[in-house]
Parts: sequence; C-alpha cells; structure tokens
Amino acid sequence: MIKSLKNLFSATENETPSITTDIHSHLIPGIDDGSQNMEDSISMIEAFVAQGYTKLITTPHIMSHRYPNSRAIILEGLSGLNRELEDRSIKIEVEAASEYYLDETVMELVEQREIMTFGDNYMLFEMSYVQPLHHLEEMLFEIKVAGYRPVLAHPERYLYMHEDFSKYERLKEKGVMFQVNIPSLGGYYSKAVQKIAKKIADAGMVDLLGSDAHKIKHLDALAKVRASKEYAKVFAKNTILNNTL
Ligand SMILES: [Fe+2]
Repeated sequence: MIKSLKNLFSATENETPSITTDIHSHLIPGIDDGSQNMEDSISMIEAFVAQGYTKLITTPHIMSHRYPNSRAIILEGLSGLNRELEDRSIKIEVEAASEYYLDETVMELVEQREIMTFGDNYMLFEMSYVQPLHHLEEMLFEIKVAGYRPVLAHPERYLYMHEDFSKYERLKEKGVMFQVNIPSLGGYYSKAVQKIAKKIADAGMVDLLGSDAHKIKHLDALAKVRASKEYAKVFAKNTILNNTL
C-alpha cells in the first residue's frame, strides 16, 4: 500500500506530481481570521477548482483565546457554504475539521473525544509561533491515548524550532505527522521559513501538504508554488497522503 502510494506521488521527468485534496484552509465565512464573507469564500473555492482541486477539508481555528469555535458553529457554517456552492453549481467536495491551538481547553475536548478529525482520525494542531509549548509531549501522549493521530500544522513556521532540527526529529519519533504549507516552499512567509520547509521535505518528513488559505492572495501563492520545481521535489522524497483522503 505505502509503496504504491509512493509510486503514485513520486516525481518523474515527464509528469508533474500534484494533489487534488487540500486539508488545511479557513474558508468558512466570519468565524476566524480566514474568509470574512461568502463572496470571498466562493472566490477562494473557485480558485481551488481552477487549480484542479476536487476536495477541500477546511479547518477553521479552534483557539479558545481568539476564535472560540465549536463543532456546532463549524458545521453550521459548513452547511451554509455547501448550500451556496450548490446554488451556484460549483462542483467540489467541501468537508470540515479544525485546526486546534493546543491548550487546556483543547485537551478537555480530547478527553471527551470531541475532536473534529479528518481521514484516519487525524487531528490537525498548531502551537505558538514564538515560544515553545510546555508539556507538549504529555499532551501528545494524551492525544494518542484518545485514539487520535496528531498532525502538526506548518512545522516550518515555529521560529523557536529553526535552530535545532533535532526538535523536529523528536516530534516525529513521538508519532507526530507533519503538514507543510505549500506557500512556505516558495518563500511566502519568509526566507527562514522557506529554508526549514525545504529541509523538512529533503529529510522525507512531510506527510501532508496544505494551502493554509485564509484569503484570495494565498491562492495566488499556491498556484505559483504548485508550478515550481521545489514543489515537484517534495513528491520525490516524501509519501504525501493528501490524495488518499
Ligand atoms: Fe491555518
């Protein structure tokens, strides 16, 4: 199975590898720092369709101190979005999970088995960009005990990890999967983030790729990187699971 997947997504000289399922975006209007209205959501989704995507698993933030979303809020937003897509005859599958900012509130949801997952019980999570999270390993342990498979969103964006690559290796050893943002590979966020994204990819540590689209300009960055050599290289060294979802 794994071997055939690897072949499926491996780069060859004649073929540009790609993915048609996105697993990280903020497309539900007005519930986080992503799309703020239905028109923007539709423009972004049309841009995904134009790039060949057929399925989007959108992941609004659940972040108790800034975006205190819930399963109910997300699912209500999702059904409004899907109604609009249907009305406009836009053909694409849109589902929802969440991007969890790890904290005590999220750990309560873990304990209650209330996490919105995707795929094979994957739980997308993020942390502070600027300071390490205390008790991360204990939290990861609890997450796994609850039957979830933790997926770290954009590992390349945590600045305090940049200087010590063994921090990435340690997380991998702890069973954390990595989701790299496609725009990172093109230097969208910064040169430093791009450098680490490439290093993670060269080390064969990428499991999933995401757009992390919050606004329409992210779709432009996405298209540009998807046409680049850097993007093709990722598939040569990593088994990317997007299209299995
Ligand atoms: Fe995100």
